[in-house]
Amino acid sequence: MDKVSLALIGAGSRSRAYTSQLVGNDNAELVSVVEPDKDRRELIRTTFNIKPDMAFSNEDDFFNSTKCADAVLICTMDREHHRQAIKAIKKGYDVLLEKPVSLKASDCIDILDCANKYDAKVMVCHVLRYAPFFQKIKQILNEGKLGKVISIQHNENINIFHYSHSYVRGNWRKTSEASPIILAKSCHDFDIINWLVNDKCKSVSSFGGLSYFKRENAPANSTGRCFNCPERNSCIFNAEKIYLEGYWWNKGAVNLTDQSDAGIRSALKEGPYGRCVFKCDNDVCDHQVSILEFENGVTASFSMSAFTNPCSRTIKVMCEKGEIRGNMAEIEIQLFGSEPEKIKMAEIVDDIEKHGGGDYYLLNDFIGWLQDKDAFARTTLSQSIDSHLMAFAAEKSRIEHRVISMQDLL
Ligand SMILES: NC(=O)c1ccc[n+]([C@@H]2O[C@H](COP(=O)([O-])OP(=O)(O)OC[C@H]3O[C@@H](n4cnc5c(N)ncnc54)[C@H](O)[C@@H]3O)[C@@H](O)[C@H]2O)c1
Repeated sequence: MDKVSLALIGAGSRSRAYTSQLVGNDNAELVSVVEPDKDRRELIRTTFNIKPDMAFSNEDDFFNSTKCADAVLICTMDREHHRQAIKAIKKGYDVLLEKPVSLKASDCIDILDCANKYDAKVMVCHVLRYAPFFQKIKQILNEGKLGKVISIQHNENINIFHYSHSYVRGNWRKTSEASPIILAKSCHDFDIINWLVNDKCKSVSSFGGLSYFKRENAPANSTGRCFNCPERNSCIFNAEKIYLEGYWWNKGAVNLTDQSDAGIRSALKEGPYGRCVFKCDNDVCDHQVSILEFENGVTASFSMSAFTNPCSRTIKVMCEKGEIRGNMAEIEIQLFGSEPEKIKMAEIVDDIEKHGGGDYYLLNDFIGWLQDKDAFARTTLSQSIDSHLMAFAAEKSRIEHRVISMQDLL
């Protein structure tokens, strides 16, 4: 196959990670867009010179019309994924599917069965597998000089402003509207742990909750919105400070089509991102710790926390003959009884921004996989689904206060 044709479903913030790479791309072109929001749809349509009749305001019109591309990029919110992936596969499309695959374990399996039945290629956007940092760790383990992996300690350091943006004010704040954070955010981390352990998870135990972003912690005289709050000058979560003075980069989620100061201010006045972080309708955990046991005897502990300065991952992989310690910027490898060897990521890759460059490599692999069925693809649906099942098990364990055996999950 020469140039691959793609259709975008859902032209929100996340889609930008992929569409930005399609401008002037010699291997792929965007030929259709499905997006209910007129401004977002038009922005994509005009950027890619998409024919007006190939820009759809609703998915039914798209799926009821003739198949128009080789693959779809599903970048809608979590609750739309299962329905849209099934429709796309049945229509003959290959699929790049944003994570989480779906909100229920049975729906994840349903998509996998459907993909197998229709022989569709489905890749999940587990971009961390493509991040040079984790690729390097995997390569070091594969080289074998550290021996077998015995145990892993992994931390997801969300960063307090990222957390307040996405999980207090934003799209993923409520389990009933999105999913538990251990699925929405940490399926990436379970996927990485799985990949490094290279075996199936056997049992999961998990603890956590929402401790801080609650009404009882609101400053005494605070109001429901920052713009008229008497406490705003002393509050670090003042939305104007965060979005206009640049604490947090994602202005696009606040106002995707007008990121001028006036556009952001007016969106903060009316929209979700201007609300008091202590007075939102959020319920997802702000910290959660999980313990994992794998079939091959490897154990892992994983801690997800909102209460961090860096927005990063830190990992320690403890092996028979030495250990690896890493923090996205640097990897330290130390054989027991030897001096550590340091690898600075900035010295081996140009772009370590945005999931460590993972978005770029993932899309490239997807396009390559479409062009050549034997091409290497790292996050196929069948490889990705275990991480989701582990997240469902962790949430069940947290709620039911018991160890969950993976074989009893489904
Ligand atoms: N892989 C990653 O690292 C990563 C990072 C962030 C977000 N995500 C995932 O990306 C997905 C999208 O997140 P986002 O921040 O872009 O959300 P968003 O709300 O900004 O974008 C979703 C878009 O889908 C549109 N939409 C709604 N219903 C639709 C329908 N039926 N058909 C077509 N379009 C429809 C909305 O109007 C919106 O523009 C989520 O599932 C999220 O979990 C993944």
